[in-house]
Amino acid sequence: MDYTIQAETPAHAALIDPLLDRTFGSSRTGRTVYRLRENHPPLAELSFAALDLEGQMIASLRFWPILIERTPAILLGPLAVEPALQGRGIGKALVRHGLTTAKQLGHRICVVVGEPEYYGPYGFRNAAAAGLVLPGPVDPRRFQVLELVPGALEGVKGMIRRDERPRGQKRGQRVA
Ligand SMILES: CC(C)(COP(=O)(O)OP(=O)(O)OC[C@H]1O[C@@H](n2cnc3c(N)ncnc32)[C@H](O)[C@@H]1OP(=O)(O)O)[C@@H](O)C(=O)NCCC(=O)NCCS
Repeated sequence: MDYTIQAETPAHAALIDPLLDRTFGSSRTGRTVYRLRENHPPLAELSFAALDLEGQMIASLRFWPILIERTPAILLGPLAVEPALQGRGIGKALVRHGLTTAKQLGHRICVVVGEPEYYGPYGFRNAAAAGLVLPGPVDPRRFQVLELVPGALEGVKGMIRRDERPRGQKRGQRVA
């Protein structure tokens, strides 16, 4: 299937909640990762839409800024592909594109809550075993972390929270 990956626009943004309801169900917002997303926006430069050749949005991937104690990181997701079009490689292409862009922008650590079989091939490993903690219940098997820069997790562990600092601060800069 032919599609392109583009930066998310405000028109796409309005279609994302209905897509997430179709893919995850409306109980999704009860999950712990939503506590890290609520009341502040995703990273605009890391919000992507996959579009079919007619320009219809068929998938979405966003990342949110987080802090691991005082160390900046990013939270991958939500990732959702239109149900009728799942299993054709669109999700993988979005994740690849998102992680490559994140590296280019200077992000150093990425966290996800998702299936280890899906995210393992990108190098994600168990985050609970690495000493990271989410502020609420999570299946520890699904809680994963990736060093976008080798060694970025050295000396980094502890509680994850929202990063509500004004945007545009230097990537990777620790909080005072
Ligand atoms: C999960 C999702 C994003 C994957 O995107 P996709 O475009 O359907 O998947 P792709 O075609 O890129 O990848 C397919 C591969 O992923 C695997 N896969 C798909 N969903 C999976 C899941 N929930 N758990 C584990 N593996 C999964 C498939 O078995 C397939 O493996 P293969 O390449 O070895 O055959 C999509 O199916 C979706 O939106 N699902 C509903 C929402 C959801 O569960 N999101 C999870 C985000 S953590």
